[in-house]
Amino acid sequence: MPQHGSRPLTAIYPGSFDPLTNGHLDLIARGSRLFDRLIVAILSNTQKQPLFPIEERMQMIRDTTSHFENVEIDSFEGLLIDYAARRGANAILRGIRALSDYETELQMALLNRRMRPETETIFLLSGEEFSFISSRLIKEIITLGGDVSTFVPEPVAVRLRKKFSP
Ligand code: PNS
Repeated sequence: MPQHGSRPLTAIYPGSFDPLTNGHLDLIARGSRLFDRLIVAILSNTQKQPLFPIEERMQMIRDTTSHFENVEIDSFEGLLIDYAARRGANAILRGIRALSDYETELQMALLNRRMRPETETIFLLSGEEFSFISSRLIKEIITLGGDVSTFVPEPVAVRLRKKFSP
């Protein structure tokens, strides 16, 4: 586990994770090496109609990340910075795949910093082999009958197949 003197670093990795992809998993692995504790937090109660209910998304992440000792799975409602404060987190972790992610991420990070300056947003670059993967496109491919098994962890592929097999 990384050492940061007497002050342990806790980061929240927030997202919709509908579903978890290999890109998300890559970021979780990077985050778990960097922080003392990493909380993967799924936003619940969004307006968006999810493919998987929150409990199923949490279970898929648990099944995929159980070998990381310092990674915890949780869900949250309301503002991310309020949740970060409740969990005593020092940082929010977000991944950047390409320039197209930057604009939205910049807006969110600056708004979050204005609302709660003590929480820093830390960006990590996802592995370049995952830079083209997104949950939105995975959903589109599987809905149209394509194979997504190389883009998502096995527990996710299993549930997707179950959901979409004829
Ligand atoms: O996986 P996503 O959909 O890109 O994740 C977006 C998420 C969950 C990080 C973002 O929508 C969020 O933080 N929502 C919580 C509500 C909130 O704090 N909104 C203000 C953001 S500046």
